[in-house]
Amino acid sequence: MHSPLRIWHPFTNSALDPAPIEIERAKGVWLYARDGRKFIDAVSSWWVNLHGHANPRIAAAIAEQASKMEHVILAGFTHEPAEELAERLRKWVPPQLTHLFFSDDGSTAVEVALKLAVQHFSNTGRTAKCEIVALEHGYHGDTAGAMSVSDDSPFTEPFRAMRYPVHRVHSAYCHRCPVGLQRETCRIECVNKLEALLAERADRVAAVMVEPLLQAAGGMIVHPAEFLKKIRQLCSAHDVLLIADEVLTGFGRTGKMFACDLAGIVPDLMCLSKGITGGFLPMGVTLCSDRVELPFHSENRGHTFYHGHSYTGNALACAAANASLQIFDDEPVFERIARIARVHAERLAQLRGFPAVGDTRQIGSIGAIELRADDAGYLSAMRPQLYRFFLERAVLLRPLGNVVYVLPPYVISPQELHGVWDVIVEAVETLF
Ligand SMILES: Cc1ncc(COP(=O)(O)O)c(C=O)c1O
Repeated sequence: MHSPLRIWHPFTNSALDPAPIEIERAKGVWLYARDGRKFIDAVSSWWVNLHGHANPRIAAAIAEQASKMEHVILAGFTHEPAEELAERLRKWVPPQLTHLFFSDDGSTAVEVALKLAVQHFSNTGRTAKCEIVALEHGYHGDTAGAMSVSDDSPFTEPFRAMRYPVHRVHSAYCHRCPVGLQRETCRIECVNKLEALLAERADRVAAVMVEPLLQAAGGMIVHPAEFLKKIRQLCSAHDVLLIADEVLTGFGRTGKMFACDLAGIVPDLMCLSKGITGGFLPMGVTLCSDRVELPFHSENRGHTFYHGHSYTGNALACAAANASLQIFDDEPVFERIARIARVHAERLAQLRGFPAVGDTRQIGSIGAIELRADDAGYLSAMRPQLYRFFLERAVLLRPLGNVVYVLPPYVISPQELHGVWDVIVEAVETLF
């Protein structure tokens, strides 16, 4: 007799965490479990779902594409769904970004951006310009390169030896200001560390990697737009490429299509994933400017970007992405986002008065509270306690340690969203 083959669940400790709940079907913002329970998906299933689960328009587009052609190698070939997606994204992404490279998920979109930045300089003979700068509290994925640019955390701890060195500069984490100032009176002095680093080492630095305006997994940390603008200015002044990891912030999460739009800046490279297919299928995209691409367009074969994943440009994922972007064209998606933002603002104003609440943060469709905790951070004892409390009340929320955030699909109704916040208020009132 063979032992059963058991699914190893992500970010899950089988000795400590509750057994996984089997979900049978999902519709809109609701997940329906086999045992008859239902849960409201207030985290968009790891931040991917935009227009609701089992959205019929996206489902139909995938089915139609599957009956025509599911997948074809993208090296040496192309296909209509991929070309259509490039055309559709053209309408939304900054005009300065002119090339699109497909990959599989957020982590690989980040790996591609890092490799493109480094090879860009290598192809132009500036091989010393290969170092990367990243922010404190940053998170960019779980593959080795993405872990390297992510800040030290319990996620990266066992892998010290596998992570390549990066320069770490301050994040504009105003609630815990890294330079001890107050936002009301500061002049974004937290960026001075980056300024000093680039003044000294720009000839060695290829790129600065940021999560624009919102550091998500690091604790839903919202940055002032001036911080990102200053980073953009410094990168331009020092001939360093700016990579915007919009894997989470893309596709309306911050209230504009991209966080960079909200800040009024254009990066040299941009990473997209998560919401790109409306949450139906995995896909990563890295965009870059003409300037970044130019040294790859070369008579020298050694200047080729030798990178590609088997499922690159998958036609079903492209069909899902095209259908999702069509929904942006046809339906009041940004009104839905604004409606979510209004409810968040109202409920966060209420929560600000609770002694247990240290900080409230919001950007577009994302609202968060940071609870006061002696053990602040991802491993805070509050996390499992809160997670269970919410599930028992039919709400799927995954606190980031002592930070509770709501990041729903855009189709959530105000009543449903108020229901989620009611449960959070109950938790804050009864648990702490
Ligand atoms: C900003 C950011 N970048 C990259 C990633 C990694 O994406 P994936 O989990 O699809 O590899 C994430 C995932 O949460 C993310 O939030």
